[in-house]
Amino acid sequence: MQYSQKVLDHFMKPHNVGKLDNPSVEATEGSPACGDQVSIYLKINDKTKVIEDVKFQSYGCASNIATGSIITDMAMGKKLDEAKKITWKEAAEALDGLPPVKMHCSVLAVDTLRKAIKKYEIDHKLREQDKFDKNMIAEELKKIIYPGAGEDIVTLKMVKYIGFEDGKAIIDIDIPKFDKYRENVADEVREHLSHFDEIKEVEVNL
Ligand code: FES
Repeated sequence: MQYSQKVLDHFMKPHNVGKLDNPSVEATEGSPACGDQVSIYLKINDKTKVIEDVKFQSYGCASNIATGSIITDMAMGKKLDEAKKITWKEAAEALDGLPPVKMHCSVLAVDTLRKAIKKYEIDHKLREQDKFDKNMIAEELKKIIYPGAGEDIVTLKMVKYIGFEDGKAIIDIDIPKFDKYRENVADEVREHLSHFDEIKEVEVNL
């Protein structure tokens, strides 16, 4: 696998690794694609809403450790409103790119940072809990990377239909029969959506 020098540098000597004592908030997220896990700890100034310290722990691969390192660098000293806008694409660019099959590792790290920020905002009544609807399903599907292109399945227009009724989610995916990632994508859709309490059943049509 071809990694950039920057990925290797951040992997060999990751920044901001570890745990914070008494963090303002912490979040852990797992990747349905590979079973790996990341935790992020934030120390936030309650008045200014600036991230004053951040650490991460990764049980993931080299790409995930490198992304954890770079996004914690990017988030450090930023206000929450700015930090939550960091995208996995920006993180991957800051690492001088990641191989397409490794983009989901970057999604995992950024998603964990966003989850921590959202948790803090809800705990501090800065935002409401998201209301569950089809848009939320669409947002979740944007976290699924098609490994052949290193882009998410919504942006690639592979998602043709999203339905949700009586606890059942129906997702139609347009992916060729011979595509080697076909079952992998379907499994990821099922995995991602199974984490919502509101969804009792997932039907994926390929
Ligand atoms: Fe699991 Fe990279 S393969 S995080």
